[in-house]
Amino acid sequence: MLSVAILAAGKGTRMESSIPKVLHKISGKSLLQRVIDTCFELNPDQIFVITGHKSKEVQESIPENKKIQFVIQEPQSGTGHAIQVLCKEVKKNEGNLLVLNGDVPLIKTETLKKLLIFHNSKNADVSVITTKKKGPHGYGRVFLKGDFIERIVEEKDCDDEERLNLLINAGIYCFNWENLSKIISTLRCNNKQREIYLTDTVSLLKNSLSLEIEDNGELQGINNRIQLSKCEEIIQNSIKEKHMLNGVTFVNKASCSISDETEIGKDVIIEANTHIRGSTKISNDCVIGPNTYIENSHVGSYCEISNSTVYDSQIMDHIKIGPYSHIRPKSKIYSYSKVGNFVEIKNSHLEEESKVNHLSYIGDSIIGRATNIGAGTITANFDGQKKNQTKIGKNSSIGANTVFVAPINLGESVTTGAGSVITKDSKDNSLAISRTKQVNIENWERKKS
Ligand code: UD1
Ligand code: MG
Repeated sequence: MLSVAILAAGKGTRMESSIPKVLHKISGKSLLQRVIDTCFELNPDQIFVITGHKSKEVQESIPENKKIQFVIQEPQSGTGHAIQVLCKEVKKNEGNLLVLNGDVPLIKTETLKKLLIFHNSKNADVSVITTKKKGPHGYGRVFLKGDFIERIVEEKDCDDEERLNLLINAGIYCFNWENLSKIISTLRCNNKQREIYLTDTVSLLKNSLSLEIEDNGELQGINNRIQLSKCEEIIQNSIKEKHMLNGVTFVNKASCSISDETEIGKDVIIEANTHIRGSTKISNDCVIGPNTYIENSHVGSYCEISNSTVYDSQIMDHIKIGPYSHIRPKSKIYSYSKVGNFVEIKNSHLEEESKVNHLSYIGDSIIGRATNIGAGTITANFDGQKKNQTKIGKNSSIGANTVFVAPINLGESVTTGAGSVITKDSKDNSLAISRTKQVNIENWERKKS
């Protein structure tokens, strides 16, 4: 039987934040959600999330799951106190209890599996993941005696000599829950912080063992914004390295960020200052960036998107977007189309080979195949109460500065005169024009002032 307890009740004072520490995000996902996701890969029988500070907010951030139970720790008197509360609340303290700090978000499933195997094979009371850290500042120091952990001393409680010990506690433990529950109530708070430390259990249990691993970044704890940014860097490096090994070029890696869920095909070039978020998929042979932001969108093959922003949209193949385009949600741009400078597209379909090249707003529209939208064209889609649709058939040629007052429906192969305000539907093969005729007054002299 495997139970997991995630410690997530603390305020995170050193974050200097009104947001509970475990709800801070790295690469778009909260620290707590990351730890929970990793735990699920172990297929445990139950997961206890211990909350306290702003517990409602923390609980609401986690999607419902029948394996997850929340335990409230009030007040938050330390990591040992959190487990005291858990042991009291849960009737059956049996099997293995894996305890994870909610602020160590990069721990890998493989490492946790190693810990469980180690723990079971040694029949330990507690197994603690440790590592030698060059800069151990802030971590609890682990002191061994032979094969056993004798004690763990928090940085604040260390004397000068103890502080030189580089072996640190990563905040990840596997306990024999039955044996833990026998000693847990005896923990005291005789330390500098006046807190009940979970780390003191190692001195009270008999068979306390250290599983020392090499730190490849996964043991980084987060107590302040510097460490938050360090974790972001670690996770970004690993995401980008994964893509590079799969055939993606980053022209300036450090200036880009990519979400975990993003999929990128082969021979894609990611130019500088490009940020890809949410669940985005980019197919082969694209050039994305520079200065581009794409969120929750699909981009087909052979696309070029530069200096642009794309949200919740679908871009098919062989499409050029930008520079300076804004593709807003629910847009679908079909193959061989082009969206150019200073163009905003919202909730619209641009069918194959259509072009909106300059200075336009196309909202709630369907633009037919091979239709060219002239510079400065605007769909006036909002009548003050609701949004209305503009429909333009295929092979049409829309003159520069046309305004479509929606709802409006134009047939196929329609032409509009430049500068027209179109308020009436028009049939296939027609010219729609609405503007005053030009008058030339000859021999005109400006009034002298
Ligand atoms: C803790 C360990 C330290 C270890 C480090 C690794 C203790 C006493 N110290 O220190 O040895 O090197 O983690 O990152 O455990 N929490 C609660 N209830 C509380 C207090 C804290 O649930 O009453 C939660 C916090 O939300 C956090 C986790 O426990 O997720 C760790 O607490 P934190 O205060 O960050 O401990 P550290 O000082 O980092
Ligand atoms: Mg911490």
